[in-house]
Amino acid sequence: MHAAYDDISLAYKIVHGELTVKKHAEEFTYLNLLGDVHGQKVLDLACGEGRFSRTIKRQGASQVVGVDISASMIELARQAESEQPLGTTYIHSDVAALGTIGIFDTVSAAFLFNYAASKEVLLTLCRTAYSNLKPGGKLVASVNATPLYPPLHNQATRKYGYLVHSPSPLREGDAVEYAFFTGSHAIRLLNVHWSRATYEWALCEAGFSACSWQSPTVSQQGLEQHGHEFWRDFLLEPNFICLAACRT
Ligand SMILES: C[S@@+](CC[C@H](N)C(=O)[O-])C[C@H]1O[C@@H](n2cnc3c(N)ncnc32)[C@H](O)[C@@H]1O
Repeated sequence: MHAAYDDISLAYKIVHGELTVKKHAEEFTYLNLLGDVHGQKVLDLACGEGRFSRTIKRQGASQVVGVDISASMIELARQAESEQPLGTTYIHSDVAALGTIGIFDTVSAAFLFNYAASKEVLLTLCRTAYSNLKPGGKLVASVNATPLYPPLHNQATRKYGYLVHSPSPLREGDAVEYAFFTGSHAIRLLNVHWSRATYEWALCEAGFSACSWQSPTVSQQGLEQHGHEFWRDFLLEPNFICLAACRT
């Protein structure tokens, strides 16, 4: 099984480790939405190299299991675990083929759903998230920003280390390209655009109750370090949005 991220796993880890928007906006917004994970069993779908898995474990989760379709990403995650053991474990699998592997308090899915190649696959991914949650459990996810922020196609986001390319007008299932770059590395990611209505349909069909959307927010530290004006263009055309839903 060869996955798209097998070829870019290390560059992904380096680029995302360096981007200001990752730390001060994406991780900040995502972890705030996850809330207190102390003592919780957390399933981290599309865990990549395990950055959220490790952070969630450090924040006191009792168990964190990461799942990713890319063998290279899982290798990096296991390597980080062996270099600094925290107790995270990883499974190499397509989430669509994972089935139910446990009963978790929280399912995290950072940038999973925007890789669903069809609405049917999107529904399968949502059903997998649902079936691994306890009743009352919470799903927290991030996806590319286009469901709430149609691309503006200007160059203003270059200063944050990313550019967005997509067809205009954007239709369901269209590819949205994100180019991320730092001084030393560049990567190109292809996401799939699904509308807000399609995400809400898939979550509802899978059994989740009301889904809430969360626009990016910037940490106090990010505001102090760079100033409010620096973040203006990012907040007009962010690269991600988050959502939360509950298993009833
Ligand atoms: C942008 S990365 C995000 C990684 C991690 N969640 C993070 O936020 O750093 C997207 C990840 O989704 C994984 N992925 C995409 N489709 C998947 C699927 N169907 N099942 C499991 N992992 C998948 C990719 O291999 C990649 O590691």
